[in-house]
Amino acid sequence: MNITREEALAYVKPHLKTSRYEHTVRVADQAVELAERYGVNHHHAEVAAALHDYAKYKPLEEMRRWIVQDRRLPKDLLDYHHELWHGPVGALMLEKEIGLSDAAVRSAIDCHTTGKKHMSQLDKVIFLADYIEPGRDFPGVDEVRKIAKSDLDQACALALKNTIIFLVQKGRTVYPNTFHAYNDFI
Ligand SMILES: [Fe+2]
Ligand SMILES: [Fe+2]
Repeated sequence: MNITREEALAYVKPHLKTSRYEHTVRVADQAVELAERYGVNHHHAEVAAALHDYAKYKPLEEMRRWIVQDRRLPKDLLDYHHELWHGPVGALMLEKEIGLSDAAVRSAIDCHTTGKKHMSQLDKVIFLADYIEPGRDFPGVDEVRKIAKSDLDQACALALKNTIIFLVQKGRTVYPNTFHAYNDFI
């Protein structure tokens, strides 16, 4: 893959708030640490992490248009919270804008918020890095951090469980891919 971590970070920076950019840098550091621990390609991990929130602040109408028009995007996204759109839409925007051709990296960006069925090791690393980066502070994150030191799957399972419980307690919907991911790990 012919994009460096620095190039990826420089590309996303103007599209993010400062706090979100700082989160992105921490996710990249965390992803590299996890990649090294679990034998995942460390360059793929740092580039996927650098790019993962690229579409976070794109106008909702622009993202909606992508979901309606690109046949690769599942239409049921429109029935769920728009917070979930930036992963799948961002992956395809990056393919178009910077020629991000690596399907494994695009997949990791795609499912970083929701998880999905049959997650790859890279998918898991990015999902988990986004969840446990040192700036995160919510109930249960320390336990996930602890498990992430020894068991990638168990850590993902707990992060998904916490996410599902949180959404249910708030009375919010849960995107089906999150259940599929959770079921895979159990
Ligand atoms: Fe995100
Ligand atoms: Fe993120």
